Amino acid sequence: MVSRVIPVEPFDLIIFGGTGDLARRKILPALFRRYCSGQMPESSRVIGAARSEMDDAAYRDFIREALVEFGKSQADNAEAIEGFLAHLHYVPVDAKGEGGWSALKDLLRDDENVVRAYYFSVGPSLFADLAGQVRNRGLSNRDTRIVVEKPFGHDLESARALNEELAQYFHEDQIYRIDHYLGKETVQNLMAVRFGNMLFEPLWNAQYVDHIQITVAETVGVGGRGSYYDKSGAMRDMVQNHLMQLLCLIAMEPPARFEADAVRDEKLKVIRALDPVDPDQIVRGQYTSDGEMPSYREDAENPTSKTESFIALKCYVSNWRWANTPFYLRTGKRLSSRASEIAVVFKETPHSIFGIDSGRHRNVLSIRLQPNEGMTLGVTIKEPGPGGMRLVDVPLDMSFAEALGPEAEEVTDAYERLIMDVIRGNQTLFMRGDEVEAAWSWTDPLIEGWERRGDSPKPYDAGSAGPDDAAFLINRDGRRWRGIKS
Ligand code: BG6
Repeated sequence: MVSRVIPVEPFDLIIFGGTGDLARRKILPALFRRYCSGQMPESSRVIGAARSEMDDAAYRDFIREALVEFGKSQADNAEAIEGFLAHLHYVPVDAKGEGGWSALKDLLRDDENVVRAYYFSVGPSLFADLAGQVRNRGLSNRDTRIVVEKPFGHDLESARALNEELAQYFHEDQIYRIDHYLGKETVQNLMAVRFGNMLFEPLWNAQYVDHIQITVAETVGVGGRGSYYDKSGAMRDMVQNHLMQLLCLIAMEPPARFEADAVRDEKLKVIRALDPVDPDQIVRGQYTSDGEMPSYREDAENPTSKTESFIALKCYVSNWRWANTPFYLRTGKRLSSRASEIAVVFKETPHSIFGIDSGRHRNVLSIRLQPNEGMTLGVTIKEPGPGGMRLVDVPLDMSFAEALGPEAEEVTDAYERLIMDVIRGNQTLFMRGDEVEAAWSWTDPLIEGWERRGDSPKPYDAGSAGPDDAAFLINRDGRRWRGIKS
Protein backbone atom coordinates (compact mmCIF):
# COMPACT_ATOMS: atom_id res chain seq x y z
CA MET A 1 0.00 0.00 0.00
CA VAL A 2 1.43 3.40 -0.95
CA SER A 3 0.57 6.15 1.50
CA ARG A 4 -0.32 9.53 0.08
CA VAL A 5 1.29 12.49 1.74
CA ILE A 6 -0.38 15.78 0.99
CA PRO A 7 1.98 18.65 1.85
CA VAL A 8 0.58 21.32 4.11
CA GLU A 9 1.06 25.07 3.68
CA PRO A 10 4.37 26.57 4.82
CA PHE A 11 4.26 27.48 8.49
CA ASP A 12 5.96 29.16 11.42
CA LEU A 13 5.23 27.03 14.47
CA ILE A 14 6.25 28.60 17.74
CA ILE A 15 6.48 26.20 20.66
CA PHE A 16 6.27 27.85 24.07
CA GLY A 17 7.81 25.36 26.46
CA GLY A 18 10.18 24.43 23.62
CA THR A 19 12.69 22.88 26.01
CA GLY A 20 10.09 20.94 28.00
CA ASP A 21 9.42 17.24 28.19
CA LEU A 22 6.46 17.19 25.83
CA ALA A 23 8.32 19.20 23.19
CA ARG A 24 11.28 16.82 23.41
CA ARG A 25 9.38 13.54 23.57
CA LYS A 26 6.39 14.21 21.36
CA ILE A 27 6.05 17.51 19.50
CA LEU A 28 9.47 17.81 17.85
CA PRO A 29 9.83 14.09 17.04
CA ALA A 30 6.35 14.22 15.47
CA LEU A 31 7.33 17.21 13.32
CA PHE A 32 10.56 15.47 12.41
CA ARG A 33 8.73 12.39 11.17
CA ARG A 34 6.37 14.55 9.11
CA TYR A 35 9.48 16.22 7.68
CA CYS A 36 10.87 12.79 6.77
CA SER A 37 7.64 11.85 5.05
CA GLY A 38 7.87 14.98 2.90
CA GLN A 39 4.86 16.71 4.42
CA MET A 40 6.66 19.73 5.85
CA PRO A 41 7.33 22.40 3.23
CA GLU A 42 10.98 23.49 2.94
CA SER A 43 10.27 27.06 3.95
CA SER A 44 8.59 26.04 7.22
CA ARG A 45 10.17 26.89 10.53
CA VAL A 46 9.84 25.68 14.08
CA ILE A 47 10.73 28.19 16.76
CA GLY A 48 11.36 26.95 20.28
CA ALA A 49 10.65 29.52 22.97
CA ALA A 50 11.29 29.12 26.67
CA ARG A 51 12.88 30.85 29.61
CA SER A 52 16.40 29.41 29.27
CA GLU A 53 19.03 31.47 27.50
CA MET A 54 20.43 29.66 24.49
CA ASP A 55 21.04 30.25 20.80
CA ASP A 56 19.87 28.35 17.71
CA ALA A 57 22.95 26.12 17.68
CA ALA A 58 22.52 25.05 21.30
CA TYR A 59 18.81 24.40 20.76
CA ARG A 60 19.55 22.27 17.72
CA ASP A 61 22.05 20.24 19.73
CA PHE A 62 19.46 19.76 22.45
CA ILE A 63 16.77 18.64 20.01
CA ARG A 64 19.18 16.42 18.06
CA GLU A 65 19.45 14.21 21.14
CA ALA A 66 15.67 14.09 21.46
CA LEU A 67 15.27 13.00 17.83
CA VAL A 68 17.82 10.23 18.26
CA GLU A 69 15.92 9.06 21.33
CA PHE A 70 12.34 9.47 20.12
CA GLY A 71 12.55 9.56 16.32
CA LYS A 72 11.44 5.89 16.02
CA SER A 73 12.34 4.43 12.61
CA GLN A 74 14.04 7.69 11.56
CA ALA A 75 16.12 7.98 14.73
CA ASP A 76 19.35 6.94 13.01
CA ASN A 77 18.76 8.89 9.82
CA ALA A 78 21.52 11.45 10.49
CA GLU A 79 21.03 13.26 7.20
CA ALA A 80 17.33 13.76 7.80
CA ILE A 81 17.99 14.89 11.36
CA GLU A 82 20.41 17.59 10.18
CA GLY A 83 17.98 18.61 7.43
CA PHE A 84 15.18 19.00 9.96
CA LEU A 85 17.34 20.81 12.51
CA ALA A 86 18.13 23.48 9.91
CA HIS A 87 14.45 24.54 10.22
CA LEU A 88 14.77 25.09 13.97
CA HIS A 89 15.27 28.38 15.78
CA TYR A 90 15.19 29.42 19.39
CA VAL A 91 14.18 32.60 21.22
CA PRO A 92 14.34 33.04 25.00
CA VAL A 93 11.08 34.67 26.16
CA ASP A 94 9.60 35.68 29.45
CA ALA A 95 5.94 34.66 29.44
CA LYS A 96 4.91 37.28 31.98
CA GLY A 97 7.45 40.01 31.24
CA GLU A 98 9.14 42.00 28.50
CA GLY A 99 12.08 39.76 27.62
CA GLY A 100 12.37 38.25 24.17
CA TRP A 101 9.11 39.35 22.59
CA SER A 102 10.55 41.84 20.13
CA ALA A 103 13.18 39.29 19.06
CA LEU A 104 10.38 36.82 18.42
CA LYS A 105 8.45 39.41 16.45
CA ASP A 106 11.50 40.16 14.29
CA LEU A 107 11.88 36.49 13.50
CA LEU A 108 8.30 35.89 12.37
CA ARG A 109 7.35 36.28 8.73
CA ASP A 110 4.60 38.68 7.84
CA ASP A 111 3.30 36.73 4.91
CA GLU A 112 -0.30 35.71 4.58
CA ASN A 113 0.78 32.53 2.81
CA VAL A 114 2.64 31.35 5.89
CA VAL A 115 0.48 29.78 8.59
CA ARG A 116 1.37 30.95 12.08
CA ALA A 117 0.61 28.70 15.03
CA TYR A 118 1.60 28.96 18.67
CA TYR A 119 1.81 25.75 20.67
CA PHE A 120 1.32 26.36 24.41
CA SER A 121 3.25 23.39 25.75
CA VAL A 122 3.28 24.92 29.23
CA GLY A 123 1.22 24.69 32.41
CA PRO A 124 -2.33 26.08 32.12
CA SER A 125 -1.49 28.91 34.52
CA LEU A 126 0.48 30.50 31.66
CA PHE A 127 -2.12 30.09 28.90
CA ALA A 128 -3.79 33.47 29.43
CA ASP A 129 -0.48 35.32 29.87
CA LEU A 130 0.89 33.91 26.65
CA ALA A 131 -2.31 34.50 24.71
CA GLY A 132 -2.33 38.10 25.94
CA GLN A 133 1.32 38.69 25.03
CA VAL A 134 0.88 37.24 21.54
CA ARG A 135 -2.18 39.29 20.85
CA ASN A 136 -1.24 42.56 22.53
CA ARG A 137 2.22 42.69 21.04
CA GLY A 138 0.85 42.32 17.53
CA LEU A 139 2.17 38.80 17.00
CA SER A 140 -1.09 37.42 15.69
CA ASN A 141 -3.75 38.05 13.09
CA ARG A 142 -7.24 36.63 12.50
CA ASP A 143 -5.75 33.47 11.00
CA THR A 144 -3.22 32.75 13.76
CA ARG A 145 -3.87 29.52 15.67
CA ILE A 146 -3.07 28.56 19.24
CA VAL A 147 -2.74 25.02 20.51
CA VAL A 148 -3.34 24.29 24.17
CA GLU A 149 -2.48 21.11 26.02
CA LYS A 150 -4.41 19.40 28.76
CA PRO A 151 -5.20 19.71 31.57
CA PHE A 152 -7.78 22.22 30.40
CA GLY A 153 -8.94 23.34 33.82
CA HIS A 154 -9.24 21.44 37.06
CA ASP A 155 -13.01 21.67 37.27
CA LEU A 156 -15.89 23.46 35.54
CA GLU A 157 -15.16 26.80 37.13
CA SER A 158 -11.49 26.89 36.16
CA ALA A 159 -12.18 25.56 32.65
CA ARG A 160 -14.82 28.23 32.15
CA ALA A 161 -12.42 30.92 33.37
CA LEU A 162 -9.74 29.63 30.98
CA ASN A 163 -12.18 29.64 28.07
CA GLU A 164 -13.18 33.19 28.91
CA GLU A 165 -9.58 34.35 29.17
CA LEU A 166 -8.59 32.82 25.85
CA ALA A 167 -11.72 34.23 24.23
CA GLN A 168 -10.50 37.75 25.06
CA TYR A 169 -7.67 37.28 22.60
CA PHE A 170 -8.69 34.56 20.14
CA HIS A 171 -11.85 33.32 18.45
CA GLU A 172 -13.00 29.77 19.09
CA ASP A 173 -12.02 28.77 15.54
CA GLN A 174 -8.42 29.76 16.34
CA ILE A 175 -8.17 27.64 19.52
CA TYR A 176 -7.04 24.01 19.21
CA ARG A 177 -7.52 22.12 22.51
CA ILE A 178 -5.55 18.91 22.21
CA ASP A 179 -6.77 15.55 23.40
CA HIS A 180 -4.12 13.29 21.93
CA TYR A 181 -6.47 10.28 22.05
CA LEU A 182 -8.39 11.83 19.16
CA GLY A 183 -5.21 11.73 17.09
CA LYS A 184 -4.73 7.99 17.56
CA GLU A 185 -5.10 6.08 14.34
CA THR A 186 -7.56 3.53 15.74
CA VAL A 187 -9.75 6.21 17.22
CA GLN A 188 -10.22 7.74 13.79
CA ASN A 189 -10.75 4.26 12.44
CA LEU A 190 -13.60 3.86 14.84
CA MET A 191 -15.39 6.62 12.95
CA ALA A 192 -14.46 5.07 9.60
CA VAL A 193 -15.84 1.70 10.71
CA ARG A 194 -19.04 3.16 12.11
CA PHE A 195 -19.84 5.60 9.36
CA GLY A 196 -18.12 4.05 6.34
CA ASN A 197 -19.81 0.63 6.52
CA MET A 198 -23.41 -0.45 6.33
CA LEU A 199 -22.63 -3.44 8.49
CA PHE A 200 -22.47 -1.99 11.97
CA GLU A 201 -24.61 1.12 12.19
CA PRO A 202 -28.01 -0.65 12.03
CA LEU A 203 -26.97 -2.73 15.06
CA TRP A 204 -25.33 0.14 16.91
CA ASN A 205 -28.02 0.76 19.53
CA ALA A 206 -29.70 -0.45 22.69
CA GLN A 207 -31.71 -3.04 20.83
CA TYR A 208 -28.66 -5.02 19.75
CA VAL A 209 -25.84 -3.89 22.03
CA ASP A 210 -25.71 -5.45 25.49
CA HIS A 211 -23.07 -3.13 26.87
CA ILE A 212 -19.89 -1.26 26.08
CA GLN A 213 -16.53 -1.46 27.85
CA ILE A 214 -13.79 1.11 27.58
CA THR A 215 -10.51 0.18 29.23
CA VAL A 216 -7.28 2.16 29.25
CA ALA A 217 -4.84 0.15 31.35
CA GLU A 218 -1.27 1.31 31.93
CA THR A 219 1.67 -0.43 33.55
CA VAL A 220 3.48 2.79 34.42
CA GLY A 221 3.05 4.49 37.78
CA VAL A 222 2.95 8.21 38.45
CA GLY A 223 6.60 8.51 39.46
CA GLY A 224 8.06 11.82 38.30
CA ARG A 225 4.62 13.42 37.84
CA GLY A 226 3.40 12.84 41.36
CA SER A 227 2.85 16.46 42.32
CA TYR A 228 0.58 17.09 39.30
CA TYR A 229 -1.14 13.73 39.47
CA ASP A 230 -1.90 13.82 43.18
CA LYS A 231 -4.08 16.91 42.66
CA SER A 232 -5.74 15.30 39.71
CA GLY A 233 -6.25 11.54 39.95
CA ALA A 234 -7.49 9.14 37.29
CA MET A 235 -10.87 10.83 36.97
CA ARG A 236 -9.45 14.22 36.00
CA ASP A 237 -6.35 12.90 34.25
CA MET A 238 -8.01 10.28 32.03
CA VAL A 239 -11.79 9.98 32.33
CA GLN A 240 -12.81 13.64 31.95
CA ASN A 241 -10.94 13.83 28.65
CA HIS A 242 -9.62 10.68 26.96
CA LEU A 243 -12.24 8.12 28.03
CA MET A 244 -15.01 10.66 27.62
CA GLN A 245 -13.90 11.35 24.05
CA LEU A 246 -13.86 7.63 23.26
CA LEU A 247 -17.32 7.26 24.75
CA CYS A 248 -18.55 10.16 22.61
CA LEU A 249 -17.25 8.64 19.39
CA ILE A 250 -18.90 5.32 20.20
CA ALA A 251 -22.20 6.82 21.29
CA MET A 252 -22.70 9.83 19.02
CA GLU A 253 -25.24 10.07 16.21
CA PRO A 254 -23.83 10.13 12.68
CA PRO A 255 -22.80 13.72 11.96
CA ALA A 256 -24.00 15.06 8.62
CA ARG A 257 -20.41 15.66 7.52
CA PHE A 258 -16.96 14.85 8.84
CA GLU A 259 -16.42 18.46 9.77
CA ALA A 260 -15.40 20.14 12.97
CA ASP A 261 -18.66 21.58 14.20
CA ALA A 262 -20.84 18.78 12.85
CA VAL A 263 -18.77 16.20 14.78
CA ARG A 264 -18.39 18.30 17.89
CA ASP A 265 -22.11 19.11 18.05
CA GLU A 266 -22.85 15.37 18.15
CA LYS A 267 -20.21 14.67 20.79
CA LEU A 268 -21.57 17.47 22.94
CA LYS A 269 -25.06 15.95 22.82
CA VAL A 270 -23.65 12.68 24.16
CA ILE A 271 -21.91 14.33 27.10
CA ARG A 272 -25.06 16.25 27.92
CA ALA A 273 -27.08 13.02 27.81
CA LEU A 274 -24.86 11.30 30.41
CA ASP A 275 -26.71 10.53 33.62
CA PRO A 276 -25.15 11.37 36.98
CA VAL A 277 -23.42 8.28 38.40
CA ASP A 278 -24.46 6.77 41.73
CA PRO A 279 -21.58 6.44 44.22
CA ASP A 280 -22.06 2.66 44.33
CA GLN A 281 -21.33 2.54 40.59
CA ILE A 282 -17.84 4.00 41.04
CA VAL A 283 -14.79 2.11 42.30
CA ARG A 284 -11.62 4.04 43.01
CA GLY A 285 -8.29 2.40 43.70
CA GLN A 286 -4.72 3.23 44.64
CA TYR A 287 -1.73 0.97 43.96
CA THR A 288 0.38 -0.41 46.73
CA SER A 289 4.02 -1.40 46.54
CA ASP A 290 4.94 -4.76 45.08
CA GLY A 291 8.12 -4.85 47.13
CA GLU A 292 10.26 -3.53 44.29
CA MET A 293 8.42 -0.55 42.87
CA PRO A 294 7.14 2.22 45.14
CA SER A 295 3.51 2.53 46.15
CA TYR A 296 1.30 5.33 44.82
CA ARG A 297 1.72 7.27 48.04
CA GLU A 298 5.51 7.01 47.78
CA ASP A 299 5.42 8.05 44.11
CA ALA A 300 3.18 10.99 44.97
CA GLU A 301 5.26 11.80 48.07
CA ASN A 302 2.04 12.11 50.02
CA PRO A 303 1.72 9.45 52.76
CA THR A 304 -1.97 10.18 53.38
CA SER A 305 -3.07 10.73 49.79
CA LYS A 306 -6.66 9.79 48.92
CA THR A 307 -6.15 10.34 45.19
CA GLU A 308 -7.17 7.48 42.91
CA SER A 309 -4.69 5.92 40.49
CA PHE A 310 -7.50 3.64 39.25
CA ILE A 311 -11.15 4.17 38.55
CA ALA A 312 -13.93 2.00 37.19
CA LEU A 313 -17.49 3.19 36.75
CA LYS A 314 -20.76 2.35 35.12
CA CYS A 315 -22.69 5.07 33.36
CA TYR A 316 -25.63 5.58 31.01
CA VAL A 317 -26.22 7.77 28.01
CA SER A 318 -29.88 8.60 28.41
CA ASN A 319 -31.25 8.91 24.91
CA TRP A 320 -33.27 6.78 22.48
CA ARG A 321 -30.26 5.05 20.99
CA TRP A 322 -28.67 3.96 24.26
CA ALA A 323 -31.49 3.74 26.81
CA ASN A 324 -30.52 1.28 29.59
CA THR A 325 -27.27 0.22 27.90
CA PRO A 326 -24.44 0.29 30.42
CA PHE A 327 -21.11 1.82 29.52
CA TYR A 328 -18.37 0.43 31.77
CA LEU A 329 -15.29 2.64 31.93
CA ARG A 330 -12.01 1.63 33.53
CA THR A 331 -8.54 3.11 33.67
CA GLY A 332 -5.58 2.84 35.98
CA LYS A 333 -1.85 2.90 36.49
CA ARG A 334 0.51 0.07 37.45
CA LEU A 335 -1.86 -2.57 36.17
CA SER A 336 -0.88 -6.00 34.89
CA SER A 337 -0.65 -4.99 31.24
CA ARG A 338 -0.71 -2.03 28.95
CA ALA A 339 -3.89 -2.56 27.06
CA SER A 340 -6.46 -0.14 25.78
CA GLU A 341 -9.60 -1.41 24.23
CA ILE A 342 -13.12 -0.41 23.39
CA ALA A 343 -15.41 -3.41 23.29
CA VAL A 344 -18.91 -3.33 21.88
CA VAL A 345 -20.58 -6.42 23.29
CA PHE A 346 -23.68 -7.40 21.35
CA LYS A 347 -26.69 -9.19 22.81
CA GLU A 348 -27.22 -12.92 22.62
CA THR A 349 -29.47 -14.23 19.88
CA PRO A 350 -33.07 -14.08 21.14
CA HIS A 351 -33.45 -17.82 20.90
CA SER A 352 -30.98 -20.68 20.45
CA ILE A 353 -31.99 -23.28 17.91
CA PHE A 354 -29.04 -25.43 18.97
CA GLY A 355 -30.21 -26.21 22.48
CA ILE A 356 -28.66 -25.48 25.84
CA ASP A 357 -25.54 -27.61 25.25
CA SER A 358 -24.31 -25.30 22.51
CA GLY A 359 -23.92 -22.48 25.04
CA ARG A 360 -24.97 -18.86 24.61
CA HIS A 361 -22.69 -16.56 22.68
CA ARG A 362 -22.26 -12.86 22.20
CA ASN A 363 -20.54 -11.15 19.30
CA VAL A 364 -17.94 -8.65 20.40
CA LEU A 365 -16.40 -5.92 18.31
CA SER A 366 -13.10 -5.11 19.95
CA ILE A 367 -11.25 -1.96 18.97
CA ARG A 368 -7.68 -2.07 20.26
CA LEU A 369 -5.92 1.23 20.77
CA GLN A 370 -2.68 -0.24 22.02
CA PRO A 371 -0.70 -2.37 21.73
CA ASN A 372 -1.27 -3.98 18.27
CA GLU A 373 -3.76 -1.44 17.01
CA GLY A 374 -6.59 -3.09 15.20
CA MET A 375 -10.07 -4.50 15.44
CA THR A 376 -11.44 -7.93 16.03
CA LEU A 377 -14.98 -9.07 15.46
CA GLY A 378 -15.88 -12.21 17.38
CA VAL A 379 -18.25 -14.44 15.44
CA THR A 380 -19.83 -17.67 16.54
CA ILE A 381 -19.34 -20.75 14.38
CA LYS A 382 -19.66 -24.50 14.68
CA GLU A 383 -16.82 -26.22 16.45
CA PRO A 384 -15.23 -28.46 13.83
CA GLY A 385 -15.64 -32.22 14.09
CA PRO A 386 -18.38 -34.78 14.52
CA GLY A 387 -20.59 -35.21 17.53
CA GLY A 388 -23.32 -32.61 17.49
CA MET A 389 -23.59 -28.91 17.15
CA ARG A 390 -21.22 -27.20 19.52
CA LEU A 391 -20.55 -23.51 18.99
CA VAL A 392 -17.30 -21.60 19.45
CA ASP A 393 -16.34 -17.96 19.11
CA VAL A 394 -13.58 -17.17 16.64
CA PRO A 395 -12.07 -13.81 15.83
CA LEU A 396 -12.33 -12.11 12.47
CA ASP A 397 -9.11 -10.22 12.96
CA MET A 398 -8.30 -6.93 11.32
CA SER A 399 -4.79 -6.14 12.38
CA PHE A 400 -3.91 -2.93 10.57
CA ALA A 401 -0.26 -3.91 10.18
CA GLU A 402 -1.16 -7.21 8.54
CA ALA A 403 -3.98 -5.90 6.41
CA LEU A 404 -2.32 -2.76 5.16
CA GLY A 405 1.29 -3.87 4.85
CA PRO A 406 4.54 -2.74 6.40
CA GLU A 407 3.78 0.97 6.06
CA ALA A 408 1.01 0.61 8.59
CA GLU A 409 3.33 -1.12 11.01
CA GLU A 410 4.73 2.11 12.32
CA VAL A 411 1.45 3.66 13.23
CA THR A 412 1.45 7.42 12.86
CA ASP A 413 1.79 9.05 16.24
CA ALA A 414 -1.22 11.04 17.40
CA TYR A 415 0.81 14.25 17.55
CA GLU A 416 1.87 13.94 13.91
CA ARG A 417 -1.72 13.92 12.78
CA LEU A 418 -2.88 16.61 15.18
CA ILE A 419 -0.11 19.12 14.50
CA MET A 420 -0.66 18.80 10.75
CA ASP A 421 -4.39 19.35 11.33
CA VAL A 422 -3.55 22.62 13.10
CA ILE A 423 -1.60 23.77 10.06
CA ARG A 424 -4.44 22.68 7.75
CA GLY A 425 -6.90 24.57 9.95
CA ASN A 426 -8.98 21.47 10.65
CA GLN A 427 -10.50 21.42 14.17
CA THR A 428 -12.45 18.16 13.82
CA LEU A 429 -10.14 16.26 16.17
CA PHE A 430 -9.89 19.03 18.75
CA MET A 431 -12.19 19.75 21.64
CA ARG A 432 -14.46 22.76 21.53
CA GLY A 433 -14.78 24.92 24.65
CA ASP A 434 -18.37 23.90 25.34
CA GLU A 435 -17.45 20.19 25.12
CA VAL A 436 -14.75 20.60 27.75
CA GLU A 437 -17.12 22.47 30.03
CA ALA A 438 -19.85 19.86 29.59
CA ALA A 439 -17.37 17.11 30.46
CA TRP A 440 -16.43 18.91 33.68
CA SER A 441 -20.12 19.44 34.48
CA TRP A 442 -20.50 15.67 34.50
CA THR A 443 -17.33 14.80 36.44
CA ASP A 444 -17.42 17.62 39.04
CA PRO A 445 -20.39 16.29 41.07
CA LEU A 446 -18.87 12.79 41.15
CA ILE A 447 -15.57 14.12 42.46
CA GLU A 448 -17.30 16.46 44.92
CA GLY A 449 -19.34 13.48 46.12
CA TRP A 450 -16.40 11.33 47.14
CA GLU A 451 -14.50 14.31 48.53
CA ARG A 452 -17.50 15.31 50.67
CA ARG A 453 -17.92 11.76 51.96
CA GLY A 454 -14.16 11.50 52.58
CA ASP A 455 -14.00 8.21 50.66
CA SER A 456 -10.61 6.55 50.44
CA PRO A 457 -9.62 4.62 47.33
CA LYS A 458 -9.30 0.84 47.68
CA PRO A 459 -5.72 -0.41 47.74
CA TYR A 460 -4.76 -2.75 44.88
CA ASP A 461 -1.63 -4.71 44.17
CA ALA A 462 0.72 -3.25 41.59
CA GLY A 463 0.64 -5.58 38.59
CA SER A 464 -2.97 -6.65 39.18
CA ALA A 465 -6.18 -5.73 37.35
CA GLY A 466 -7.13 -3.19 40.02
CA PRO A 467 -9.22 -3.56 43.18
CA ASP A 468 -11.53 -6.60 43.46
CA ASP A 469 -14.50 -4.26 43.75
CA ALA A 470 -13.96 -3.23 40.15
CA ALA A 471 -14.61 -6.81 39.06
CA PHE A 472 -17.65 -6.91 41.33
CA LEU A 473 -19.01 -3.72 39.71
CA ILE A 474 -19.53 -5.57 36.44
CA ASN A 475 -19.89 -9.17 37.69
CA ARG A 476 -22.97 -8.32 39.71
CA ASP A 477 -24.64 -7.40 36.41
CA GLY A 478 -23.80 -10.88 35.07
CA ARG A 479 -20.99 -9.54 32.90
CA ARG A 480 -17.19 -9.70 32.92
CA TRP A 481 -14.35 -7.32 32.10
CA ARG A 482 -12.39 -8.25 29.04
CA GLY A 483 -8.76 -7.76 28.30
CA ILE A 484 -6.35 -7.34 31.13
CA LYS A 485 -5.12 -10.20 33.28
CA SER A 486 -6.04 -10.22 36.93
C1 BG6 B 1 -1.96 11.56 29.47
C2 BG6 B 1 -2.09 11.37 30.95
O1 BG6 B 1 -2.89 12.52 29.01
O2 BG6 B 1 -2.18 10.33 28.79
C3 BG6 B 1 -1.12 10.32 31.43
O3 BG6 B 1 -1.85 12.60 31.61
C4 BG6 B 1 -1.30 9.03 30.63
O4 BG6 B 1 -1.30 10.07 32.81
C5 BG6 B 1 -1.26 9.31 29.14
O5 BG6 B 1 -0.24 8.16 31.00
C6 BG6 B 1 -1.61 8.06 28.37
O6 BG6 B 1 -1.39 8.28 26.99
P1 BG6 B 1 -1.07 7.05 26.01
O7 BG6 B 1 -1.06 7.67 24.65
O8 BG6 B 1 0.25 6.51 26.42
O9 BG6 B 1 -2.18 6.07 26.21
